Amino acid sequence: MSSIDQVLALEDLEPLARRILPNGIFSFISGGAETNSAMNGNRAAFQSFDLVPEVLVDTSKRTTEVSLFGEQWRAPFGIAPMGGAGLAGFRADCALAKAAREERVPFILSGSSLVRLEEIARINPDAWFQAYLSVDRDEIGALIDRVSAAAFRTLVITADVSVSGNRENLIRAGFTTPMRPTVRLALEVARRPRWLFKTAMRTYLQHGMPRYENASAAGGAPVFSATATRAHVRDALSWADFEWIRKKWTGRLIVKGILSPSDAAKAREIGADAVIASNHGGRQLDCAISPLHALPQIVEAARDMPVLYDSGIRRGTDVIKAMSQGAKMVFIGRPFLYAAALGEEQGVRHAIKLLHAELHRNMALLGSNNLYDLHKRVRRRT
Ligand SMILES: Cc1cc2nc3c(=O)[nH]c(=O)nc-3n(C[C@H](O)[C@H](O)[C@H](O)COP(=O)(O)O)c2cc1C
Repeated sequence: MSSIDQVLALEDLEPLARRILPNGIFSFISGGAETNSAMNGNRAAFQSFDLVPEVLVDTSKRTTEVSLFGEQWRAPFGIAPMGGAGLAGFRADCALAKAAREERVPFILSGSSLVRLEEIARINPDAWFQAYLSVDRDEIGALIDRVSAAAFRTLVITADVSVSGNRENLIRAGFTTPMRPTVRLALEVARRPRWLFKTAMRTYLQHGMPRYENASAAGGAPVFSATATRAHVRDALSWADFEWIRKKWTGRLIVKGILSPSDAAKAREIGADAVIASNHGGRQLDCAISPLHALPQIVEAARDMPVLYDSGIRRGTDVIKAMSQGAKMVFIGRPFLYAAALGEEQGVRHAIKLLHAELHRNMALLGSNNLYDLHKRVRRRT
């Protein structure tokens, strides 16, 4: 039995991925900032809601389909943007994009991805592109022109990385950005032959040294280059910069990393098409509020602008809980990347199917035929 066949739920993916990935790469994916309080809080938040089923409801025609911006999706969940995905699995950006396309769920390509965005647009014409704001307007302007020329229709701006989060676990695990070839890394890699041959060597032999291909219009630095993290300080940026992007980008514009209702209101006033309530999976500000607890007020401030969600979703019941608090679509990060590391496109499809099956089953048990009006079926514990 291959390892992906042992996966019955998204939680099964992490221990299996830990066995095949070098410790530094596993830590890069799995960890949160500082004490992991925000990351653990994301999971705990879901435990503070109970479901209240109604029985003897005919749910035989229930559907998990949702529509967002006039587009129809098979399920109300998608794949969050994850930088450096190709370090974990062979061409993982492609695997994630293809799986999302096949399963008809949204996929957001990270601005720190390792495959050219033009190739991803060909694989998955419905993919969204995520970028970080840049201190250099000419540079971000040129990147936006490139994203537009590749026919992406939806641009996500991640706003919660003014500086990089403090992930001590990475330093302890010996993982650095840019990556540095050290004796420790070599020893770890030697203990993970499957990753060495099926991901690292295969990538290098077929595609050369991976680069941050979409960090700027001209492409980006190789993952081992000292200039790879040059743009990680954005603490001088403000809503004025976002306003500038709104004028430049004519497609759909989404702000990711919103936790405060006043920020949701600002995004709407400036002309954002949606926001993603997210604490970056607990990887940025430790002790940041779980977006699940922040959702009702964000939704209120957003008025008619859709609010999307990520951070901590692992189960169909989590999807239901987030939607009950007003999320129109949710995104999942780490588990889908583990799935790509373990089983490439088929692994990701397997993970999507598991979550979809859970959601479909839970809707019957809850007595719900669709994913609207869920607030009546979910109660916050007092
Ligand atoms: C390995 C990894 C890389 C990430 N890279 C990015 C990124 O490039 N851009 C971004 O906006 N968010 C990034 N994120 C955050 C995710 O988009 C998302 O907010 C988070 O993973 C959701 O939490 P979850 O992993 O608990 O589902 C990354 C997350 C992980 C795990």
